[in-house]
Amino acid sequence: MKINTLSKNMLKTATMLTLFAVLGGGLVTVSFQMTREQIQANERLSLLRNLNEVMSHDRYDNDLFSDVREMTHEALLGTAEPVIIYRARKQGQPVGAIFTSVASDGYSGSIHLLIGVHSDGTLAGVRVVSHQETPGLGDIIDLRKSKWILGFQGRSLNNPNESSWKVRRDGGVFDHLTGATVTPRAVVKAVKNTLVFYQNHREEVFFH
Ligand SMILES: Cc1cc2nc3c(=O)[nH]c(=O)nc-3n(C[C@H](O)[C@H](O)[C@H](O)COP(=O)(O)O)c2cc1C
Repeated sequence: MKINTLSKNMLKTATMLTLFAVLGGGLVTVSFQMTREQIQANERLSLLRNLNEVMSHDRYDNDLFSDVREMTHEALLGTAEPVIIYRARKQGQPVGAIFTSVASDGYSGSIHLLIGVHSDGTLAGVRVVSHQETPGLGDIIDLRKSKWILGFQGRSLNNPNESSWKVRRDGGVFDHLTGATVTPRAVVKAVKNTLVFYQNHREEVFFH
């Protein structure tokens, strides 16, 4: 084979290889991008389902994801991290807010909550989003295990009065399992603190 033909073949092979590499890389990038977008869409849908558990969808007509506010108040919201607040409105008027509060004194660390509050300060709903409490003891706060968390619905700082926002063991009205008071106590405290925060910062929650 002549030198000329040999170098032509080598050039052809190199061009083909480069083409395949570029095509392959492009395909990987496109499919990564599509997968990422799909994952983000699924996460958004799952979050929206959770938000609608604590604030009924027929109560508001705005896009919760584009009406978000971050606020920090460690003593009341239980976390030094900014709390995300989704604002629910109907025809522009505030109808409720959903707080991503944290009960930081659970038995096994932080308990992440979604707390939906109607604009009049009554609880639309509370759900535990994540926790590491002990199965059979602390996990009564998890709706998949018990209906305990539904007991907050319709309550407010007047129902019961503020001093009764405690578990029964501490003289309040909220049930708990004997031998597992730490977890419900932490959740009751976090929900109460969120209501107090809402009561004191209602204007800031909706109008900033
Ligand atoms: C291994 C282990 C795991 C526990 N997990 C929990 C828990 O997840 N939540 C809880 O409230 N208490 C849990 N407890 C019990 C608490 O230490 C504490 O004794 C109890 O909450 C106090 O409840 P009481 O006031 O009704 O006795 C656990 C105890 C042990 C030994």
